[in-house]
Amino acid sequence: MPKPMMYGCIFTFYCCCLALLAAAQVTDPSEVSALRDVRSSLDDPMKHLQNWSRGDPCVSNWPGVFCYDTVDLDGYLHVRDLHLLNMNLSGSLSPALGKLTLLQILDFMWNQISGEIPKEIGNIASLKLLLLNGNSLSGSLPDELGNLSNLTRLQFDENNISGPLPKSFANLSNLRHLHLNNNSISGQIPPELSNMSRLLHLLLDNNNLSGSLPREISYLPKLAILQLDNNNFDGSEIPATYGNLSTLSKLSLRNCSLVGQIPDLSRIQNLSYVDLSRNRLSGPIPSNKLSENATTINLSNNNLNGSIPSGFSDLPSLQKLSLANNTLTGSIPASLWQNITFIPNAKLTVDLQNNLLSTIAGQLNPPENVTLRLGGNPVCSNANVPNIAQFCISQTQGDEQLPNSTNSTCPVYSCPTDNNYEYVPVSPVPCFCAAPLRIGYRLKSPSVSYFPPYIDLFETYLTSSLKLERYQLSIDSFSWEVGPRLRMYLKIFPPVSNQLHYFNATEVQRIRRIYTSWDFPRTDLFGPYELLNFTLLGPYSSSVLPTQNSGISKGIIVAIVLAAVACAVSISALITFLIIRRSKGNQNSLSRKHLSSKISIKIEGVKAFTFRQMAQATNNFNSSSKVGQGGYGKVYKGILSDHAVVAIKRAEEGSLQGQREFLTEIKLLSRLHHRNLVSLVGYCDEEGEQMLVYEFMPNGTLRDWISGKTKEYLNFGMRLRIALGAAKGILYLHTEANPPVYHRDIKASNILLDSKLTAKVADFGLSRLAPLLDEEGAVPHHVSTIVKGTPGYLDPEYFLTHKLTDKSDVYSLGVVFLELLTGMQPISHGKNIVREVNMANQSGMMFSIIDSKMGSYPSECIEKFVTLALMSCDDKPDRRPSMLDVVRELESILRMMPETDALFSDTASMYSSKSFAESSSYASRERYPSSTVSGSDLISGVVPTISPR
Ligand SMILES: *[C@@H]1O[C@H](CO)[C@@H](O)[C@H](O)[C@H]1NC(C)=O
Ligand SMILES: *[C@@H]1O[C@H](CO)[C@@H](O)[C@H](O)[C@H]1NC(C)=O
Ligand SMILES: *[C@@H]1O[C@H](CO)[C@@H](O)[C@H](O)[C@H]1NC(C)=O
Ligand SMILES: *[C@@H]1O[C@H](CO)[C@@H](O)[C@H](O)[C@H]1NC(C)=O
Ligand SMILES: *[C@@H]1O[C@H](CO)[C@@H](O)[C@H](O)[C@H]1NC(C)=O
Repeated sequence: MPKPMMYGCIFTFYCCCLALLAAAQVTDPSEVSALRDVRSSLDDPMKHLQNWSRGDPCVSNWPGVFCYDTVDLDGYLHVRDLHLLNMNLSGSLSPALGKLTLLQILDFMWNQISGEIPKEIGNIASLKLLLLNGNSLSGSLPDELGNLSNLTRLQFDENNISGPLPKSFANLSNLRHLHLNNNSISGQIPPELSNMSRLLHLLLDNNNLSGSLPREISYLPKLAILQLDNNNFDGSEIPATYGNLSTLSKLSLRNCSLVGQIPDLSRIQNLSYVDLSRNRLSGPIPSNKLSENATTINLSNNNLNGSIPSGFSDLPSLQKLSLANNTLTGSIPASLWQNITFIPNAKLTVDLQNNLLSTIAGQLNPPENVTLRLGGNPVCSNANVPNIAQFCISQTQGDEQLPNSTNSTCPVYSCPTDNNYEYVPVSPVPCFCAAPLRIGYRLKSPSVSYFPPYIDLFETYLTSSLKLERYQLSIDSFSWEVGPRLRMYLKIFPPVSNQLHYFNATEVQRIRRIYTSWDFPRTDLFGPYELLNFTLLGPYSSSVLPTQNSGISKGIIVAIVLAAVACAVSISALITFLIIRRSKGNQNSLSRKHLSSKISIKIEGVKAFTFRQMAQATNNFNSSSKVGQGGYGKVYKGILSDHAVVAIKRAEEGSLQGQREFLTEIKLLSRLHHRNLVSLVGYCDEEGEQMLVYEFMPNGTLRDWISGKTKEYLNFGMRLRIALGAAKGILYLHTEANPPVYHRDIKASNILLDSKLTAKVADFGLSRLAPLLDEEGAVPHHVSTIVKGTPGYLDPEYFLTHKLTDKSDVYSLGVVFLELLTGMQPISHGKNIVREVNMANQSGMMFSIIDSKMGSYPSECIEKFVTLALMSCDDKPDRRPSMLDVVRELESILRMMPETDALFSDTASMYSSKSFAESSSYASRERYPSSTVSGSDLISGVVPTISPR
């Protein structure tokens, strides 16, 4: 290459590299400086924001900073959400927040931030959620917030905000939720608020509001919750027009110094909750029947007179009716408690204490679910009413209890506590341990008074919104707080199919995002919720929090990586070039080839296939060629050009690994040959693909045969031989492979059958080939501590200690034996096969659960096989037989069988003829530690049936 051209090339390369670097985006500098200002005005004793001094907010994953996925037209990344929930932050909010001009969510909930709300927040036109509740903010509400026309949710509750409610809020035309409760806001509620045509929930309770209740509120076309308790609208009446709030679900005006009459609310179809207690309301109670949805009617502590209207009868959802401390007269209608059809778990409290009620119309026989309080009424001294006394003593209400969840009996081994694992309470898999997400949650304004009847509905609502299974949610506890608000602790468990027993980071982020963006579908019955905390403990604590969510698309990461690689390559090319020029003069055409060189190792005995060959063999990986799907990836049936039929395992993105590691593993696998192992034919390592090519097993998996998918059944002898074959294959892996290979994932679907129904163990070594990825997608450095396996086959001791031994494979194989014996699945309908068989065995019912499809069998053989299988599944690894013991015992059982075919008696005779029982009763511990067993003693005669090519 001529010299000028060479320089030209380098220059171009450099330009490319710079261009790519520019394409690897950074955050808008004005937003970076705004975030720095925000941080510097906060006190951060727990150092949650420590990393805010390093790197770029969007690219370096600053905690709590979430960015848009794509670069804006201006060429920068922009901050989309700021989630600084519950971080023990104090100090104040910087006006620089207003410079985060594309922010959608601003969340500082549950910290101790003080000072005023910066009016500059009103500049963030794109803001949708403004969440500052649970701080110590003071000062008044800035008028400028009225400019936030895209705002849907404004939560400032539980602060020390004073001053009036700005009229400008009327411009918040997209606002659905206005929560300003528990502050010191004063003055009149501006009638202009009725312009907020989308407003659903208006929570202004526990403030110093005064003046009259604006009748204009009734013009709000969608209002569902109006909660104004504990304000002082001295002498104001409840406008009669409130009866027109047709979408209302909850009306709570407790302790507001209201006077006048109760308006007719009977036209409000879905009204569930009415609390007008502790006012000075007078006159009679409107007689029209309230909505059938009513759960709570509290009119106590007023000056109401007249009689109890019949409209309170026959309300099927009613939980609480309180008319106490009024001056009601006349008789008490028994229809209040008669003929009520409750929903399950329902209860009703009828409190009529301290009135002037003198008689009972009907029978005084409330059912047990109705609590009736009549104390302080003349009727209590009416000697004509039998049994009245018990209703006239003052009672305190018992606490609500969670319905007892099936307290499972999982005593055998406890969950590893170091990672905050615990049993999933109502898991479909018995005693499934997993690490839950812990969520502090509170219903801010529920429309029920008594929760148990609604727990089911609530759990269904939450889990379906989160796209989880019902069993994944557990309400750990709940309690009522003033408001009344319902606080609860939720735990969300990963699904039982999750072999890590904890959520991956993507899933944590998904769930967290649904909570923190209020993406739940609206429910007026449960009302608005508060997120009190979203605690990441155990496996979530270290890995997830610091990097929560980059918010950066893969594309950008790829661009960054490409740019970095291009730079590194070009710089090293330049340096190489300079060095070569200097040392070797004009040999300038070198290095290119060197750079693009590919590792290519010749591996004995296996064939390296090209990607094209693989594609041809599988008809371009057509789905009709797909025969299975494993942890490693999809499995295809392929026909090679020489007509050989093979099974091709194609690694999925997550299972890909470094080329060198891949080839090292292939080398290891290529040396493993045994008649009971599926043999590796070749591999493909091209075009970013990694594939393993195995001999094809025409008779499919043992699982298919046990489950009857095959339409033919295995008789007992065949089952024994398959068990023996599998055990021998695994024994070979444990003792002959160097280093020993622990299979880690033995299960009926990993035992394949060839054309002669010889068992061949598949997928060995794949646990090494497919290291589990951790949250960041990086290969973890502690593979051994990650529990891998299939639920139902998993050694409990391995789960507990994370220590993998040969006995873990013994356990899993024992489960396969139990499947062979009973035809059951390891886990079905929540029943664990080990426990089921143990129970049957102990109660002498063993033969009742033996698979009837296996035909006749000698009962002493079955008994021995059951004993072996159950010992293999002992919780204590020490009490399990070794794989060698297993092989020996199976051979001895086979010899007891009437017709043992020649093939097996041959191989059997190659072992010592000592029977299993005399050689080592497991209990009396004459052990065969693998170190004392020389491989050649054991195996040499049996292997290799497939000689290395
Ligand atoms: C407000 O929301 C609308 C609809 O989502 C959107 O098109 C518009 O860009 C938003 N306004 C601002 C200033 O972000
Ligand atoms: C009211 O009851 C009806 C019928 O039972 C039900 O469909 C509706 O969802 C309920 N509304 C509320 C707000 O609970
Ligand atoms: C009724 O008034 C008395 C006395 O003021 C009070 O102790 C009691 O708690 C009130 N009852 C109810 C149900 O509010
Ligand atoms: C309750 O039901 C019974 C039988 O259906 C009926 O005779 C009685 O009148 C009902 N009581 C009330 C208070 O409605
Ligand atoms: C009363 O409550 C118990 C326990 O929740 C329930 O089993 C029973 O069915 C309820 N009775 C009525 C009439 O609802």
